[in-house]
Amino acid sequence: MFESFYGLQKTPFSRDIPTDQLYQSHLLEETLGRLEYTAQRQMFAVLTGDCGTGKTTTIRCFKEILDTSRYMVMYLADSKLTPRHFYKGLLEQLGCEAKFYRGDAKRQLHKEIELMQGIHHLQPVVIVDEAHLLDKEMLEEVRFLLNFKMDAKSPMALILVGQNELWDRLKLQSYSAIRQRIDIQCKLPHLDRSQVGEYVKRHLAYAGAEHDIFSDNAVDEIFKFSSGAARMVNKVCTHCLLYGAQNKRNIIDDHMVKLVVQGELS
Ligand SMILES: Nc1ncnc2c1ncn2[C@@H]1O[C@H](COP(=O)(O)OP(=O)(O)OP(=O)(O)O)[C@@H](O)[C@H]1O
Ligand SMILES: [Mg+2]
Repeated sequence: MFESFYGLQKTPFSRDIPTDQLYQSHLLEETLGRLEYTAQRQMFAVLTGDCGTGKTTTIRCFKEILDTSRYMVMYLADSKLTPRHFYKGLLEQLGCEAKFYRGDAKRQLHKEIELMQGIHHLQPVVIVDEAHLLDKEMLEEVRFLLNFKMDAKSPMALILVGQNELWDRLKLQSYSAIRQRIDIQCKLPHLDRSQVGEYVKRHLAYAGAEHDIFSDNAVDEIFKFSSGAARMVNKVCTHCLLYGAQNKRNIIDDHMVKLVVQGELS
């Protein structure tokens, strides 16, 4: 409803923003570059960041830029992922029905991967999102997965994506065997004040805004409230736009952001 009041053709600050319309920070570019290198070299990467900082969005973007004639991307995001479900999920994405027992399914996956590489010349890229929720057994399985053919060659690129706790866990002594195998580490930080300003502008430009809707002081408040986490920026901006449209305010200033935060978000 605020879209018509502000003359917008699309809804800004939404989850489904197309990847070519994303706010392209220097760090997003750098992270995408590292992930691409991970895919090329069939390495093991870990991408961590606080909640709502754009990890899944980065992966969405990564999947779209990867050359589909060279890579086969398999994506899993399941908080209760067990080794059996892991193999089953990957095999399903390869169009196969998984064998019941874990060991059989694992051999089946390796065979499918060999076929994919040998016949179709496709390199597998496995991405496990929400990896901070994986239990010890599943993380251990990751280690075995990378041990294929006695460590001589990794059968796939593997990218674990999760909140910062994932990294805290991997730092523990009991995970040192996995930690040592990590080739590439990416950390997504929060946006700083000037990046939040650019981020807000990018979403508004995507929606078709013809002028700035948030004043500079409003962006200061948005930054304070969100501490630079994209999801929280989206949330506060959407609430402000709703409030602004209801109260017929063309420009949203810092007082309005404070009012909305106190009234609706705290
Ligand atoms: N570069 C960006 N440009 C535009 N919007 C973005 C960008 N990065 C993130 N967002 C938006 O911010 C929101 C949160 O992003 P995302 O879901 O990727 O975070 P996350 O780090 O995966 O969070 P969680 O830890 O909860 O899984 C999404 O709605 C997404 O569209
Ligand atoms: Mg996510």
